[in-house]
Amino acid sequence: METKLFGTSEYDIAEAGKMIAEGKLVAFPTETVYGLGANALNETAVRNIYLAKGRPSDNPLIVHIAEKEDIVPLVKEVTPKAKALIDAFFPAPLTIILNKSDKVGKVVSGGLDTVAVRMPKNEIARKLIKASGCPIAAPSANTSGLPSPTRVKYVIDDMMGKIDGIIDGGDCEYGVESTVITLATDVPTLLRPGAITKEMIEAVIGEITVAPAVLEGMKNDEVAASPGMKYKHYAPKAKVVIVNADKKEYERFVNAQKGAFALCFDDDEVTIPKVTFGRENDDLSQAKELFDSLRELDEMGAKKVYARIPHKDGVGMAVYNRLIRAAAFCIIDLTKPFTVGLTGPTGAGKSYVCEIFRQKGFKIIDCDKIAHELTAKNAPILTELASEFGEDVVKNGELDRKLLASRAFDTKEHTKKLNSILHPAIIKRCKEEANGLTVLDASQLFEANMQNDCYKVIGVLADENVRIKRIIARDNITEQQAKLRMSAQFDNDYFIDNCDYIIYNNGEDIAAQTDNILEVIL
Ligand code: TXA
Ligand code: MG
Repeated sequence: METKLFGTSEYDIAEAGKMIAEGKLVAFPTETVYGLGANALNETAVRNIYLAKGRPSDNPLIVHIAEKEDIVPLVKEVTPKAKALIDAFFPAPLTIILNKSDKVGKVVSGGLDTVAVRMPKNEIARKLIKASGCPIAAPSANTSGLPSPTRVKYVIDDMMGKIDGIIDGGDCEYGVESTVITLATDVPTLLRPGAITKEMIEAVIGEITVAPAVLEGMKNDEVAASPGMKYKHYAPKAKVVIVNADKKEYERFVNAQKGAFALCFDDDEVTIPKVTFGRENDDLSQAKELFDSLRELDEMGAKKVYARIPHKDGVGMAVYNRLIRAAAFCIIDLTKPFTVGLTGPTGAGKSYVCEIFRQKGFKIIDCDKIAHELTAKNAPILTELASEFGEDVVKNGELDRKLLASRAFDTKEHTKKLNSILHPAIIKRCKEEANGLTVLDASQLFEANMQNDCYKVIGVLADENVRIKRIIARDNITEQQAKLRMSAQFDNDYFIDNCDYIIYNNGEDIAAQTDNILEVIL
């Protein structure tokens, strides 16, 4: 099919409008992203939109109108809240969902009883709708699954040869699609955040809810309020990972990731290849550039991309919502003191796994070593231990570890007491030492309740007989003593239930297991 390229002269718009009236497909600029338009009241034309985009047919389209009153024939009723929003915002990057009238067909509404309506602010878009003499159904003019087109060149990339015309109206003002709100439910619900923010809407109609899928992934069994929510949208070819960290921490992390790309803000000091998406405290600039930068990363051949995290309020909610989908919901949280908490019962081989992390550039914090240092000769904590467990556990400033063990591990009560003295001091010191990518090596991670200070917790486990052999060889003790020690710790099931990942160390290739986990979390 030959695709005609139009400018924005009156003559061009009149011709493009005629094409739409005839049932043809024309892509056109809006203030958000480019749309792929067809006569909304012509079911065959609308069906062709789905074909050109490769879009699932249960995902309904937005119907675009040129004047506020053009919504009336499309819906059952313009409710008071709808009227308030229309008066306050239209024309705007805002889409309102209401119960549909019989005029709106099943194809455009994706089989639903509702219809999404929007009056774009972009003048070329409104002139086109007027010229066509009909409401225009238009999704974003990208191939389904790719980032929405914010520049005409991306429309040409995706749609050339598949549709009848493309109007070149320059770059889009906002760069993210319109805000979508449904008023067809009891409580107005934000289905897709955009440049008209939650705060702006609430100032007009009072409190609204935000559909959970806006900021989180959808659960497998959840029914989508908006069918568009369930598809993995805006997917670039690269694997994108969002890094939750402040500017300094992000820079330090990303600059150590050789072979990867950074998707960062203008002022970030990044030494690996990068593409920027706006300024840190300017969500409008981020919205405008996000999709463009995702496409650019693909053009550069990026395989792995670490993205700076946007703020979630104002227009930032829209930026975050698009980025988190591009990242398939993968976020590294570096705001926690420890990147990885490594735990597991004695004899499972934690230290071996630690060594692998050390070689990969992680800093290792060894809790046992810290516990030892904190109880070294004349350490202040010894006074506390002596007053709790008897003055004779400290002799000449030196801790009698055997004697303390015999008194502290005889009952659960005493063990608890010991932990209440040691754990706070250990936790404090560990946090002081944490710095950048850090592994916390802590057999008592759960006892000390440090799991929430770790981005991910990995348990290292081994079969009981394997562990017994290792402990006997390592500590030169009897089988009975080894078993006694093991019985004081959580069993394997506890670790399986409470860790994010498990490494089995019965002699398998644990380097490969560690690599697999790192591939998923970083
Ligand atoms: O800014 C925009 O809205 C752009 C420009 C071209 O106007 N259009 C756009 O359309 O983004 P599209 O089709 O890519 O996204 C429309 C979204 C989809 O997530 C769809 O599921 C949802 O709106 N939607 C449409 N009608 C709906 C309805 N009746 N109920 C629930 N969700 C609906
Ligand atoms: Mg779209």
